[in-house]
Amino acid sequence: MNADLFAETSPAERLGPGTMLLHRFAESKAAALLNAIDQITAQAPFRHLVTPGGQRMSVAMSNCGALGWVSDRAGYRYQAIDPQSGLPWPPMPACFALLAHSAAEQAGFAGFAPDACLINRYTPGTRLSLHQDRDEHDYSAPIVSVSLGLPAVFLFGGLVRSDPVKHLTLQHGDVLVWGGPDRLRFHGVKPIGEGLHSLLGMQRINLTFRRAA
Ligand code: SIN
Ligand code: FE2
Repeated sequence: MNADLFAETSPAERLGPGTMLLHRFAESKAAALLNAIDQITAQAPFRHLVTPGGQRMSVAMSNCGALGWVSDRAGYRYQAIDPQSGLPWPPMPACFALLAHSAAEQAGFAGFAPDACLINRYTPGTRLSLHQDRDEHDYSAPIVSVSLGLPAVFLFGGLVRSDPVKHLTLQHGDVLVWGGPDRLRFHGVKPIGEGLHSLLGMQRINLTFRRAA
């Protein structure tokens, strides 16, 4: 696939041995991405999952691709069937897979072929506590995270929960890629601030592409 398609406006910032922040990498594709998100969430609506401990998550989630990430009283896992509809998750649109592949390549991870895309929706006040992405089968593929809408302060820690945490501002269109030696870094999102985005209104949507199987 062609990384040049995305090369127009993408200053890249290296934040770790396996971490790159590609500023505004997805900005010119935002309208197409949002259109696809509308179609996906018409079939698999955003919902608030419950953690294994019984807490309702403040982030609303959906998925597309062969596998979707879910949480309930039984635990965290990936599964091919949306538990709410009993149907497979909507397929991953070509524009999603192309964007994720191109961003990964730009960050030094050639050949990324995600089989799962978690779609997170935040409104002002919504946060995501510090965690590692460790439900995937192998950690050789990176995580590719696309931010749309309201800005977020992303918490980027180390490999141990108690490591110092950097605060990164993720703007509309930014793509953060972490993999290799950084693949298991702790991360989270501070409560989203009030605001009105020209395309998304009072929302932030994050797409997180993974190789789950
Ligand atoms: C996640 O860790 O799954 C989402 C991170 C984000 O929303 O930026
Ligand atoms: Fe995560």
